[in-house]
Amino acid sequence: MSKSYAIAVIPGDGIGPEVVREGLRVLDRVAAIEGFQVKPTSYPFGAEHYLKTKEVFPDAAFSEVKGHDAILLGAIGDPRIEVGLLEFGIIAKMRFELDLYVNLRPVRLYAEHLCPLKDKRPKDVDFVVVRENTEDAYAGMRGFFKKGTPDEIATQEILFTRKGVERVIRYSFELARRRGRGKKLTLIDKANAVRAMDLWTRTFAEVGAEYPDIAREHNYIDAACMYVVKNPEWFDTVVTSNMFGDIFTDLSAMIQGGLGVAASGNIHPGRVSLFEPIHGSAPKYAGQNVANPIATILAAGMMLDYLGETRAAQRVESAVERLLASRRIPSVGTDSGLSTAQVADLVLGELEAAPVA
Ligand code: IPM
Ligand code: MN
Repeated sequence: MSKSYAIAVIPGDGIGPEVVREGLRVLDRVAAIEGFQVKPTSYPFGAEHYLKTKEVFPDAAFSEVKGHDAILLGAIGDPRIEVGLLEFGIIAKMRFELDLYVNLRPVRLYAEHLCPLKDKRPKDVDFVVVRENTEDAYAGMRGFFKKGTPDEIATQEILFTRKGVERVIRYSFELARRRGRGKKLTLIDKANAVRAMDLWTRTFAEVGAEYPDIAREHNYIDAACMYVVKNPEWFDTVVTSNMFGDIFTDLSAMIQGGLGVAASGNIHPGRVSLFEPIHGSAPKYAGQNVANPIATILAAGMMLDYLGETRAAQRVESAVERLLASRRIPSVGTDSGLSTAQVADLVLGELEAAPVA
């Protein structure tokens, strides 16, 4: 009997269902090539379901989703619905309640022509950002006082715990060691202004002492934004807080070619984890078959890697890399001249041809 993986699939809103459909085709094919099975179960949560039923993500369904080997998500967000309601009720709910404390966001330039920076080549843009995924302003400790009056006060706490900071920093040192590339870990924070981040500074130094083989660097977030544009080759492995990680990875995604190629994993090592493209639901392109599925295909590849199907994961990534480098897929945006399905067809074809290391 071949191995089989149960995957909970939440296609979500906007272009989500289109890109997820193609991601699943790629998973199915690479599984057949490598000799395992992928069994997807789809869940309808998102804007349409909410408008019809007033349900965001009911407990019963949530417990079912938890019981899978991994979760694949398309995109959540719809202009008809109150800002944040579905994003927090679905994506953030899983991040918090499944305690997915690592948001892993690789930044790789697969083909020189995709980079908006002058004279930067694939070897110059190859780093990975570890974004803390369960704390910071995202923890939702907020309030309004005298709401709607001229005296209104609005607060939202930036919070960090020693345990939360330590585990994500430790994960990042281990990752820097595994990557073996520059063997360098950069901490990005704003400890000069947000003094609570002194917890990051101290924890980074303490945990770092256990990893003498990994060089430690530090950038304030404002400087990091400058350096990533000026000298992306300076970065190898990066660890940062939730909100800075959110912002820094959208900027980084542009350097690797755009949100159409940026994938992520929301991970708790050893537990059910969630994989998704970084892009949103792009409502204006929904249903037109122009959305580029590459980010979702790469997220599916990251999921395979997480599940231990390393060869299959490499096969997916190298197929995408070759198609982009040879310009058979000329761009990662909606302007590639290829439909959503055609892009995936090319990936399917290339999967077979792919030499795997
Ligand atoms: C992301 C998104 C989310 C975040 C939103 C949708 C709440 O921007 O996954 O990066 O801020 O984490
Ligand atoms: Mn974001």
